[in-house]
Amino acid sequence: MKNREILVSPSLLSADKRRLESEVESCKNAGADWLHYDIIDGHFAPNITFGADFVKALSDKGLFNDVHLMIEDPCKYAKKFIDSGADLITFHYEAVEDCLKACERIRGMSEKIKVGISIKPRTSVEEVLPYLNYFDLILVMSVEPGFSGQAFIPSSLDKIRILRKYIDENNLNTLIEVDGGINQDTCQDVVKAGADVLVTGSFFFSSLYRPGAIKMLKGK
Ligand code: DX5
Ligand code: ZN
Repeated sequence: MKNREILVSPSLLSADKRRLESEVESCKNAGADWLHYDIIDGHFAPNITFGADFVKALSDKGLFNDVHLMIEDPCKYAKKFIDSGADLITFHYEAVEDCLKACERIRGMSEKIKVGISIKPRTSVEEVLPYLNYFDLILVMSVEPGFSGQAFIPSSLDKIRILRKYIDENNLNTLIEVDGGINQDTCQDVVKAGADVLVTGSFFFSSLYRPGAIKMLKGK
């Protein structure tokens, strides 16, 4: 088993919206690797969060900008997020007719952009296995899209194990990211199952000592 470096991507959905610049500084100083932007349109999931201008305001702070589009018609808006500083655009398998076409379209918008695909809890992981080699990342939603602070869905661990096995057996470079309910009680199982990147919202932003929260998530 490769000893993988675990990356942590704090989700700004849980940040104090009155102090965003200092919250992002705090993510950096705490040792976060990425910054996770949960973009929700009120249609794909029952919440409305941020737009491209929000990303633009925070994407020049030196963290890898991990943009999670929980929106319908992601290809229509992807370019705006890329122009706003996104380094990775992850869209939902359930939001497009043809995920390979969508992947190609987004890749065509910029030479540098990384492209990820995400599946909701009720979507079986077998549906996306055939497409993984086209994507830089697969994002497993371990809660229903929409809100932070929800409980981790335990069946997500089976999905992560299946993905880890498939990616390793096929020598793919696709990263596994897990999003939802990641905290001190769930992170070890998620990492053991094979995750590479952990999204953390409420656990990280509610921690009294954030560097310690990052270390715990990284298993250090
Ligand atoms: C759901 C969001 C959450 C969020 C993580 O739409 O994507 O999963 O980022 O929040 P926590 O870590 O509080 O579950
Ligand atoms: Zn997310």
